[in-house]
Amino acid sequence: MAVLHNDIFLRALLKQPVEYTPVWLMRQAGRYLPEYRATRAKAGSFLALCQNPELATEVTLQPLERFALDAAILFSDILTVPDAMGLGLHFVEGEGPKFTHPLQHEQDVARLEVPDMSRLRYVFDAVSSIRQALQGRVPLIGFSGSPFTLACYMVEGSGSRDFRLLKTMLYQRPQLLHRILDINAQTVTAYLNEQIASGAQAVQIFDTWGGILSDAAFQEFDLLYIQQVVSGLQREADGRRVPVIVFTKGGGQWLEQLAALDVDALGVDWTVNLHQARHQVGQRVALQGNLDPLALFGQPESIECEIKRLLADYGSGSGHVFNLGHGINQFTDAEMVKFAVEAVHRLSVGYHQN
Ligand code: CP3
Repeated sequence: MAVLHNDIFLRALLKQPVEYTPVWLMRQAGRYLPEYRATRAKAGSFLALCQNPELATEVTLQPLERFALDAAILFSDILTVPDAMGLGLHFVEGEGPKFTHPLQHEQDVARLEVPDMSRLRYVFDAVSSIRQALQGRVPLIGFSGSPFTLACYMVEGSGSRDFRLLKTMLYQRPQLLHRILDINAQTVTAYLNEQIASGAQAVQIFDTWGGILSDAAFQEFDLLYIQQVVSGLQREADGRRVPVIVFTKGGGQWLEQLAALDVDALGVDWTVNLHQARHQVGQRVALQGNLDPLALFGQPESIECEIKRLLADYGSGSGHVFNLGHGINQFTDAEMVKFAVEAVHRLSVGYHQN
């Protein structure tokens, strides 16, 4: 395997000294790039693109050709996992993901099993193929949804405004939801370990919907299962630590509890103040974030001002990975992304002089 030329992202996650603040962007490969849309058209559909390791490699590398990003992220989707469990994933144009067989009855939940990882072979093949294509340029991030966030889609059968079906199950039949979450946690653990074995050098758990829960429900239905996953992960590969990042959108009020898990970094959305967050988590974890994705719809001057503020909020020293507070919007101007990535590099040097 090629030596890693730029390991600044991995060092920042472990709070080791860095020369500048590394940056990558959630959903950095995607529809805002015309070359992505061209490759997706060649694949035939978004799912076909995810299932084709060669084309998934191509789109993973596309943003790195344009911008000086410090990490690559596997091109795939969190919903490949419930698809492998037999729920039948499809995407309806303009409406987002849908499942043909959502978990709505007790029998659906009773039948649910940890899937054979061979059903996700195409993901692991994409990981190996991307690692090879990267030739050590930057590290590769693998990922999964959190057990709870996956359950949201599995029960609702799609995205939702109020998660009524999910919350009905949570309050009426909590044991059914616990069974789903337990199976999801076992599955996500195996899935991430297989990505690590295939070459992922860091992993991120996307807990997109944790923020819809009450404080008590978050502890019982989300945090515990993230902990179950994290405690089962393989944390070293090729003699190097494989850092684990947990991103709970809307999770700013639970940073101390999340930091108490055995994770290396926490992703935070744009509502969080980085100075306060750093104070709350102390030395335990690094922080990743948190530019409002819509800030990229400003001008260079306003974007620079926001970046300056975030860098100043975090302050001096390592332990910050710059990112957006959620995925990049599909209507973003790629020129503004280029400007933002360069600005993070240029403006952050002064925070890393000792
Ligand atoms: O970050 C990256 O570049 C890697 C690729 C990636 C995708 N999805 C590609 C994608 C990652 C890390 C994800 C994670 C994901 N998928 C999450 C968690 C992060 C988040 O955004 O909250 C969630 C909730 C999903 C589920 C999902 N996939 C939804 C709700 C949608 C439809 C909404 C939308 O933005 O269109 C998708 C589709 C999807 N996943 C696209 C991409 C590039 C767009 C599909 C297309 O090209 O038509």
